[in-house]
Amino acid sequence: MNDSTKPLMTTLPEIVDDLILERVRQLLEVPANSPLKESDLKKLALNTKRLSDYFTKKVEERPEFYLKDDRLMAAYLAYFLPSNLLKVNKALSELMLHPAVDQFTDCGGKLSVLDVGCGPGTATLGLINFLAQLEQREGPLSLNLMAADNTQQCLDEASLMPRRLWNAYSEKLPENRLADLTVRTVKLDMSKINEGLCGERFDLIILANSIGEILADNSRVDMGCDLVETLMEDHLEARGGMLIIEPALRDSSRKLLMIRDELLARGRSSVYSPCIIQDKCGALDNPKDWCHEGYGWAMTSLIKEMDKRTGFNKSQLKYSYLVLRKDGMTLQDILPADGGENFRVVSDLLIMKGERKVFLCGQRGRIQLGRLDRDLSDANRQFDEIRRGDIVEVKGIYQKGEVLRIDKEGSVRVISSL
Ligand SMILES: C[S@@+](CC[C@H](N)C(=O)[O-])C[C@H]1O[C@@H](n2cnc3c(N)ncnc32)[C@H](O)[C@@H]1O
Repeated sequence: MNDSTKPLMTTLPEIVDDLILERVRQLLEVPANSPLKESDLKKLALNTKRLSDYFTKKVEERPEFYLKDDRLMAAYLAYFLPSNLLKVNKALSELMLHPAVDQFTDCGGKLSVLDVGCGPGTATLGLINFLAQLEQREGPLSLNLMAADNTQQCLDEASLMPRRLWNAYSEKLPENRLADLTVRTVKLDMSKINEGLCGERFDLIILANSIGEILADNSRVDMGCDLVETLMEDHLEARGGMLIIEPALRDSSRKLLMIRDELLARGRSSVYSPCIIQDKCGALDNPKDWCHEGYGWAMTSLIKEMDKRTGFNKSQLKYSYLVLRKDGMTLQDILPADGGENFRVVSDLLIMKGERKVFLCGQRGRIQLGRLDRDLSDANRQFDEIRRGDIVEVKGIYQKGEVLRIDKEGSVRVISSL
């Protein structure tokens, strides 16, 4: 397991940024290649704020088909799409770590994908960006995409934007690595998913920042489970993967964790990642906890401009994710089992006076592990380098009162740092 994919995680290629900017200009009726004027930037910032309110503090005021408004769509493309697009990379890279998962390398050169609540095709754009940069593939790859949403304008964008990106990458890439792209769209309501999908099956199903929109309150977590289970049972290939991404807000992230626990209790799916255990989620024990990814990225210049004007801060890619499978394969299968304990790092490293601490999740549940500065040794030096989202192997954990620690003899090894 290595970290060669880091630039892929954190940088939006120019080809993608250019495509998004071009579409933002079109929606704002700005001539091609002209810079956005002060009045355009002002309107974009205003609509970015409106959208952000609809996603956070004014959810109840959000119109049902909010992205049908070109001004809101332009703001979505400018501010939300670039970071959301990159969020698929980690989960897809983790799927590729498993030698028995052949989603992108051996699907007969044809990959079929369903993107539910697709918006302007964000996750699919992320997938195309990911596939375009895959070096392991042999032979050309064709993508058969079905984009589903309840808003026609989203379906129009989800049809247009992936085609444009696919064509741009096809022209640029050697040996025609990206062969054919087929895009179909279906207008449907996620809460009645089967009515639109006619029993078709896919290798990969993505629900990115969409399931939360049908779960107004925690009592509707069952509805989320039913949606995911129906998609998995009726529309996912036996060896397919299901990727769910949600914002890293406490409420949406906790709903995703509740869906995770309920799906595991129902017994028909397993969590491939990020969890390396199939037990109940420890973050749900304390109502203040949740679980999310978070790392810096190279913000686009338009996002920096919007941050300046709105007072927002998008310098981190923050999200919660869940990869589910029904063939029982998990990331846990390929972790070393040589006497150490494996954990997912679920917090940033806390640097305190004389001690460093971090929250970890593994067979012991969710624990806080500390190491005193005076116990720094060659064996545990990597404790200082671990970051949220890494997978680590730890040896020599001991209990001192309420506290779990490692000392000089204890060891820490980062085994995956995507
Ligand atoms: C926040 S956007 C996410 C779009 C995209 N997946 C992304 O990650 O950028 C939520 C999407 O879910 C769609 N949506 C909301 N409720 C829906 C429903 N009941 N049925 C189908 N789509 C729905 C919205 O139209 C919107 O496109």
